[in-house]
Amino acid sequence: MNPPGDKKSLYSALSSMTTGIYILTTSCEDIINGMIVSWATQISYEPPLVLVAVHPKRYTHGLILKSRSFALNILSTEQKYLVSRFKAPEINNRFSGIKWRKGKTGSPILNECIAFLDCRLVDTYEPGNHTLFIGEIIDGDINSNEKPLSNIEYGKSYLGNT
Ligand SMILES: Cc1cc2nc3c(=O)[nH]c(=O)nc-3n(C[C@H](O)[C@H](O)[C@H](O)COP(=O)(O)O)c2cc1C
Repeated sequence: MNPPGDKKSLYSALSSMTTGIYILTTSCEDIINGMIVSWATQISYEPPLVLVAVHPKRYTHGLILKSRSFALNILSTEQKYLVSRFKAPEINNRFSGIKWRKGKTGSPILNECIAFLDCRLVDTYEPGNHTLFIGEIIDGDINSNEKPLSNIEYGKSYLGNT
């Protein structure tokens, strides 16, 4: 038993939370980018709002602030292979060989994701080391009934300490 408040216990407890694994995309002028995120969730039904937490050092962070929009692409358990590509620091080949189109906000929507949520940025908060981007969903749809990818299938949890 670790002492109360022990950091190791706290991080073990956090890593036992279930979280989804998504590709967060955005576009700004002629630049597009996508990155893996786990810290994303619905926070309102009316209006339909989602929240995503992005570390300020991510390239995507500045692009979202400029474009005021983003899309969450929901991956299936069969698309684990996309995680290594969209989490790696190398950004040039992230979209190679992947079919995508621009959504209503201009953010890339991956044809093979199981569902997408296309959002316009309505608010930002900086309560800790990640910026909370709150987006109003202006378009969204489902493409397949495959099982969504989570940290359980991926085998690791994002704790935000990177
Ligand atoms: C499973 C997993 C979940 C992640 N979740 C987040 C997240 O919620 N927020 C974040 O800022 N970074 C997260 N990352 C890290 C980014 O995906 C990674 O730093 C990426 O290279 C950022 O890309 P960019 O700098 O091109 O925007 C996660 C990484 C992994 C492997």
